[in-house]
Amino acid sequence: MHMHTRLGHQLPNLIHSSPISKSSAFASHCHRAMATQVPHKFDIGTKFKLNSGYEIPLLGYGVYQTPADVAEQVTLHAFQTGYRHVDSARAYRNEQPVADAIRNSGLKREDIFFTSKVPPRSMGYEATQKAINSSFVQTGLDYIDLYLIHAPYGGKEGRLGSWKALVEAQKAGKIRSIGVSNYGVHHLDELEAYINSAGDDGSKIDVGQWEIHPWLPRDDIVEWSRKRGVAIEAYCPIVRGERAGEEVLQELGKKHGKTWAQVLLRWSLQKGFVPLPKSVTPERIEQNADIYDFELDADDMKALDFPNSYAPCSWDPTTSHD
Ligand SMILES: NC(=O)c1ccc[n+]([C@@H]2O[C@H](COP(=O)([O-])OP(=O)(O)OC[C@H]3O[C@@H](n4cnc5c(N)ncnc54)[C@H](OP(=O)(O)O)[C@@H]3O)[C@@H](O)[C@H]2O)c1
Repeated sequence: MHMHTRLGHQLPNLIHSSPISKSSAFASHCHRAMATQVPHKFDIGTKFKLNSGYEIPLLGYGVYQTPADVAEQVTLHAFQTGYRHVDSARAYRNEQPVADAIRNSGLKREDIFFTSKVPPRSMGYEATQKAINSSFVQTGLDYIDLYLIHAPYGGKEGRLGSWKALVEAQKAGKIRSIGVSNYGVHHLDELEAYINSAGDDGSKIDVGQWEIHPWLPRDDIVEWSRKRGVAIEAYCPIVRGERAGEEVLQELGKKHGKTWAQVLLRWSLQKGFVPLPKSVTPERIEQNADIYDFELDADDMKALDFPNSYAPCSWDPTTSHD
């Protein structure tokens, strides 16, 4: 049984609906909340309501670099642990085994949130249409919950052409929510200008995905997204283990009886992000979901506040200007 903590943060569109534990105390949270409504409680079943109207579970399970031959098994373990959201991509070459895990999980399709992404090589209207089709052929799914543009490459025409293909697939009911990844503010502004000019055909940005952690807080992008109700997914939320030895993480871990990785994931949740930790190791899959029985206080959050730090551990297409 998880202990539920109270949060005094701005979490837009927060919804609670837990597959693990339900309590009448949460009923009042099962609505579309305004950005300023506090406090909120959450656990592994908590969701955001997206601009599309669909809900996204707040904790995601990442599968980048998860080999296809183990992907079904580890994803099944994640589902058994309580995760209900998997972040895949065409480029990860494991959409098919992840979809097998969805089918073989015994869970209802609508209880699982599956994401894929347009590969950087498939930018532009027609190439993106083909990429989306390939995802359906490979996964055998009837619909995909979220499809993102993986990176802002391909020039303006390529980016807007890809967006147009996503909107059409959304209107056809094949994709429920759409968004972007690795977009800098200049890419977001470009897309917003197109959306504003396209009327009904522009749709809305539901989700943005970026590398975000205390050493890469991306305040400009976060502010842009919050203003528009765009849910913010945080990739590399545990910095691929590279910061495990940081004193601040060791100290906070000791203070709360948690690991450095759990401290980072909790930071991400309390900032209102959707962290996407990846692991192929069963104990780590479980550890990364065991983050609902403690809370970082204001001092802890301050100790993890490095507003001037800009230290990606992954690629960084946000700065590209093609
Ligand atoms: N949109 C994009 O461009 C983009 C880019 C990168 C990532 N992503 C998404 O974000 C997800 C997460 O990012 P990421 O995989 O790069 O980095 P990450 O989740 O920060 O770190 C994953 C690494 O940390 C290890 N690990 C996991 N849990 C641990 C724990 N509790 N203790 C110690 N080590 C632990 C994993 O090892 P084991 O697996 O061996 O356990 C793996 O080597 C990806 O899987 C992907 O879905 C998106």
